[in-house]
Amino acid sequence: MTEMSGDDVDWRHGRAPLYVFHGSDAAHEVGRAAFMKYFSENALGGRRAFFGLKRMEDEVVELGLDLFQAPDGAVGNMTTGGSESIFMAVKACRDWARAQTKITEPFNIVAPYSAHAAFNKAADVMDLEVRRLPTGEGYRADVAAMAAAMDDNTIMLVGSAPCFPHGVIDPIQSLSDLALESDTWLHVDACVGGYVAPFFQRIGRNIPDYDFALPGVRSLSADLHKFGFCPKPASNLFYRFEDDRERGLFHFDQWPNGQFSTATLSGTRAGGAVAAAWAVMHHLGEDGYMAIARQLADLTDAYVDGIEAIDGLYLLAKPDLSIINFAAHGMDIFAVAEAMESHGWLPGLTRNPKGMHAMLSMFHAAGRADYLADLAASATAARSGGTSELKAVY
Ligand SMILES: Cc1ncc(COP(=O)(O)O)c(C=O)c1O
Repeated sequence: MTEMSGDDVDWRHGRAPLYVFHGSDAAHEVGRAAFMKYFSENALGGRRAFFGLKRMEDEVVELGLDLFQAPDGAVGNMTTGGSESIFMAVKACRDWARAQTKITEPFNIVAPYSAHAAFNKAADVMDLEVRRLPTGEGYRADVAAMAAAMDDNTIMLVGSAPCFPHGVIDPIQSLSDLALESDTWLHVDACVGGYVAPFFQRIGRNIPDYDFALPGVRSLSADLHKFGFCPKPASNLFYRFEDDRERGLFHFDQWPNGQFSTATLSGTRAGGAVAAAWAVMHHLGEDGYMAIARQLADLTDAYVDGIEAIDGLYLLAKPDLSIINFAAHGMDIFAVAEAMESHGWLPGLTRNPKGMHAMLSMFHAAGRADYLADLAASATAARSGGTSELKAVY
């Protein structure tokens, strides 16, 4: 197995800008030990067999509801990832819309161009349309354009906190106002940064409001397995109203085994992921997450300063958290990326506009000087070179 992975990107030393996240060595070990302790248990059986896991899941959800300022009566559950949380939110919303008389099929979802692809995945399965509108200032959602794109068939508005491509938080306050005025479901996709944003706020960074404190936010997804620093697969989906979670549930009893109910697309779920999320959250606590947030904020500033010190490179947007995207004047940024690849760095790429993208976690601390040195050399090579044939892939 080790031999099979011999050509893998050296992600442990920060050479992968996506897919993997790291908070602290201790949190990693705590998560791993808890996962292994519950390696065989199945979270599907939490209600009938694995009561400890059920309690852990409930407590993880409680911590999340508290963190995202959910009002009394709000509920949530764990899922296996951001895509599944989004899928279930869209399903709940669709079923809510079906029960309304003033919203008519075929249904559509109105989202910024920067929203995650998972909304289209969900829409594809459920035969919904997604209307993606160009982003506005600073690559944040253009709320006026979104409002203009809505019609009697619109069931959901989407805002990201932050969006994956640019790491900026959409104007959720304005989206919340729009959702209330139009009686539309607003889903906040806080999958990528949701679990660290509150701690950036607490260490004094300027984080715009994005959670249930805004009354139009009806559901919110936040991934534990990203900047919650918990092992995969683990995410949370939260609903402001208990009735909405009921809409998200799947119930079926026309088969030999009787009543079957799940809040997730998956049936069997790794018990280890539930136990690990519980353990990591309790291990880190508020102080632990704040300490990591402080390190990440400083690390991001250092990367941004280093990148902007290289002639021709500039940040497309000032990052709200630790997700960066930078572009180039006077050279093709994809040619820079191609040169970085030859130095052993997996480049994250975006298009419209072209950029180099990275989600910085503590994996990226030790390699910063090497990264910036290779980036400066790559920019020099690209300045005198041509364009690159690289394509943006996730
Ligand atoms: C903003 C956002 N939403 C949703 C997702 C999907 O999450 P997952 O890959 O866990 O399904 C991601 C993944 O990066 C994301 O960045």
